Amino acid sequence: MAVSIKADILRAIRESTDYVSGQELCDRYGVSRTAVWKVIKQLQAEGYDIEAVNNRGYMLLSYPDTLSGSELMSRMKTKWAGTKVYFRKETESTNEDAKYLAEEGMDHGSLVVADAQTAGKGRRGRGWESPAGEGIFMSLILRPDFSPNRASMLTLLMAVSVAEVLSNLYQDLKVNIKWPNDVLINEKKVCGILTEMSAEPDFIHHVVTGVGINVNQSSFPEGIADIATSIKLELGERVDRAQIIVGVMEFFEYYFDIFRQRLDVSDFVHIYDSYLINRGREVRVLDPKGEYEGKAEGINDKGELIVRLPDGSVSCVASGEVSVRGIYGYV
Ligand code: BTN
Repeated sequence: MAVSIKADILRAIRESTDYVSGQELCDRYGVSRTAVWKVIKQLQAEGYDIEAVNNRGYMLLSYPDTLSGSELMSRMKTKWAGTKVYFRKETESTNEDAKYLAEEGMDHGSLVVADAQTAGKGRRGRGWESPAGEGIFMSLILRPDFSPNRASMLTLLMAVSVAEVLSNLYQDLKVNIKWPNDVLINEKKVCGILTEMSAEPDFIHHVVTGVGINVNQSSFPEGIADIATSIKLELGERVDRAQIIVGVMEFFEYYFDIFRQRLDVSDFVHIYDSYLINRGREVRVLDPKGEYEGKAEGINDKGELIVRLPDGSVSCVASGEVSVRGIYGYV
């Protein structure tokens, strides 16, 4: 059964406040009554509570707390970001899958999502804890038509998108960004972003932006428990992963389309800075040429962190590690 027909039928019954007749679904999607019935049966077996009433049709009463390609695609409201979802129950790394699929020609905006990763990758060669049923592990394939030197800013757009979704959905939580792309709740890391690019000096083949969000974890292994948290731990209840994914795709699509007009982050500086935990705080820049300290003032139009040094001069940090005093053990 094609995922898209399943997602289409699921979307139709999800969006309707009344019963949707089998005939209407056949006419709308050009499939037989048997095909519609098969989809309904399959959805019911997956835990969707769908009422089927003779002469009236189908009504969705409740849906399960599981991720799947059809669940996600039936809820997407975007034009291109996440409209095609490639879902796997378990994989090594969604970034690796997305890079492979991008090489194979998968479209701009395709989204790879997994319920669990066995070799989730973090930045700088680190790993990413990816237990089944608890987190969001997703990688978005992008095929931008701009120069490779702009690509690092896509990570900032993704960080703002995640921060916006979390702060809109859970208004009581304190959501921040630690430059360039960690999203924090109550000063602990809840989301990391790993962007990888295949490019020639003046041409991008594709970019893969991987996002890991700690959603329903109840605990973390020793070593990261002090610096990591999940939405459930901060909110006190389990939350719907699909709702977050759909929201992130909506914000990202909106911001990406604005970004393409100027190819800098000037339109986002104010919103990014409003989340920036580094702002006004002492930071330590771990520059390979030597560490130094200063006070972070915000980001510039290129997405660099503006750091005021003790002698009053300004340093703009383009990449690298920046510790913030009071966060992740920097005292
Ligand atoms: C970080 O170190 O902060 C970045 C973590 C990025 C993790 C995500 S999970 C989905 C995607 N697939 C991966 O293997 N890594 C990214």
